[in-house]
Amino acid sequence: MTSPPLTQRPAWIALTAHAQTMKTRHLRELFGADATRGSRYHVEAEGLYFDFSKNLITDETLSLLSQLARESGVEERRTAMFAGQHVNESEDRAVLHVALRLPKDASLIVDGADVVAEVHAVLERMATFADQIRTGAWRGHTNRPIKNVVNIGIGGSDLGPVMAYEALRHYSQRDLTFRFVSNVDATDFVEAVRDLDAQETLFIISSKTFGTVETLTNAASARQWLIEHLGDEAAVAKHFVAVSTNAAKVAAFGIDVTNMFEFWDWVGGRYSMESAIGLSTMIAIGPAHFYEMLAGFHAMDEHFLNTPVQGNLPMLLGLLAVWNRNFLGFSSVGVMPYDRYLHRFPAYLQQLTMESNGKHVTLSGDRVTYETGPIYWGEPGTNGQHSFYQLIHQGTTVVPVDFIGFVNSLNPLGEHHDILMSNVFAQAQALAFGKTEEELRHEGADERVLKHRVMEGNRPSNVILANELSPRLLGLLVALYEHSVFVQGAIWDVDSFDQWGVELGKQLAAAMIPELANTAPVELAHDSSTNALITHYRSLKQNGRNDDDH
Ligand code: F6P
Repeated sequence: MTSPPLTQRPAWIALTAHAQTMKTRHLRELFGADATRGSRYHVEAEGLYFDFSKNLITDETLSLLSQLARESGVEERRTAMFAGQHVNESEDRAVLHVALRLPKDASLIVDGADVVAEVHAVLERMATFADQIRTGAWRGHTNRPIKNVVNIGIGGSDLGPVMAYEALRHYSQRDLTFRFVSNVDATDFVEAVRDLDAQETLFIISSKTFGTVETLTNAASARQWLIEHLGDEAAVAKHFVAVSTNAAKVAAFGIDVTNMFEFWDWVGGRYSMESAIGLSTMIAIGPAHFYEMLAGFHAMDEHFLNTPVQGNLPMLLGLLAVWNRNFLGFSSVGVMPYDRYLHRFPAYLQQLTMESNGKHVTLSGDRVTYETGPIYWGEPGTNGQHSFYQLIHQGTTVVPVDFIGFVNSLNPLGEHHDILMSNVFAQAQALAFGKTEEELRHEGADERVLKHRVMEGNRPSNVILANELSPRLLGLLVALYEHSVFVQGAIWDVDSFDQWGVELGKQLAAAMIPELANTAPVELAHDSSTNALITHYRSLKQNGRNDDDH
C-alpha cells in the first residue's frame, strides 16, 4: 500500500497541530513539571549516552514521531537498504556501506555475488600493504622506506580520510607524516609537499570515479613533482597507489592496477571512509585498530536494525532532527565536538548530511512541499564559545546543537578535561534554561544592562557522551549520523544517496576553462555578469602579477 504524501499523513497533521502547542511551552516549564525528565529522555547503547531531554518535546511528541516513521515506511526502507535493494533510485544502485563493516564470517549476496567476501579480500590486501608501509618493508624507488603519505582526493574521498586521521591521531604511527590534498587550488598541493622528501613519499590517489577534475589535476601535479625530484618515470610504480572503482581510468592515468585498491558502486562517496578509501587511515592506525573501527560501525548498524524506535539512537536523532526542522522551523544544526581530535568532524558531517538530504524533489520527482535537509555546521568546543555562541544564545535564529563529549581525555593534563567538559554541560544548560530578568535582578545585576543580559533559553540541544575517543567509538559515531541521515531522508521521501545538484557547476566550469586559459580573443556567450567577470579576469591576467601586491 502506498502511503499518502508526507504532509497528508495522519502523524504529520497531528505533529503540525502539536507543534503549535509546543511552541508556547518552555523547557524550564517542562523540566519543572517532571523531575525525572533528564533521565527519562536518554538512551544508552553501545557505550553512547544520548541525552535528548533538552529538546522541546513531550511523550506525545515522541509517540507522534514514531508514528510518522511508521507511516513513512522508515523500517521497510531500512530493511530494503540492508538487503541490497536499489534504494538509490535515481542512480539505480544498491546502497551497501553497511556491507563494508560486516564481519568476515557473514554473507550478503547481491546480484549473485557475496559482497562480504569481496570486502574482506580488499581489507586483507589493504592490511598487507599498510603493514609494509608501517614496517618500512615497502621501499620507494631509491630503496628508502616511506615516511610520508599524501592522500589526494576530494569530497568523500578526502573528508572521511582526513577526519578519521585527525580523530584517531592518538592511535597513529607517529614516525609517519600524513597530508591530505583536496582543493584544485595549487596552494593545497604545493604547501602539502614543500617540506617532503620525494624519496620517502607515497601518494594515494583516492577517487571513486577517477574522473574528478580536482583529484586528477592534483594527481598529475604529484606525478610531475615526483618525477622531477627522482628523475625517473619508473618511480611512479613505488610511490603511487590508487583507490577507485574504475580500474580502466586508473590504468589510463599510469598507475598499475596491481597497486589499486578497489571498492564498488554500491558505496556512496560520502559513505566510503571505511572502504579502501580509508587506506590512509589504516596506514596511520594499523589494521587492528581499523578493524576495531569497523566493529564500531557494525555495532551501530545492528543497533539501528534491531532496536525499537524508542531506544534506537539513529532513529531518535533523525526523528528529532525532523521535529526541529519541519515542525519547529529551525533551519540549521550546530555540531560541536568537545574534543580537539574531532575538529574535522563537522566538515565531514556537512557532506554526509547536506549532500544526502539537500534535495528538492521526492523519489518520484515531485517538488517537495516541506523543508528538507537543514544546514549542518560546527566547530570544536570550547573555541566556538568565544565566537559564534553569542548568536546561538541570544540571536534571533534558534540553532539546535549536538554536543559531543568524552568522559576521559586521551591527553589527561591537570584540570583541562574537567574544565572542557564542564563547558559541555554548562552550554547545554544555558541554552535550555537561559536567565530571566528576575533572576538577574535577584543576583544584583546592573539595571541598565538587565535587558541585554537576559537569556531567553528554550534552545534545544542533544548531548552525546562516551567514555573515550577510540577507533570503535568513531565507527559508532559516524554510523549513528549516517543512519540518522537515512531516517530523515526516508521521512522526506528523497533520494539520500544521489547528488545531482553538484553537476551543473562542474559542467559550466569545464566549459569555461578554455575561455580563461586562452589568450586569444574569444566570443563569450554567457550572461552579461559572467561575461564581464571573465573579461576582467582575462585582461588582468594578461597584465601578469603585480609586484606591488606581494
Ligand atoms: O562532486 C561531488 C562528488 O561526486 C562527491 O559525491 C564525491 O564524494 C566527490 O565528488 C569525489 O568523487 P570521486 O571520489 O569520484 O573523485
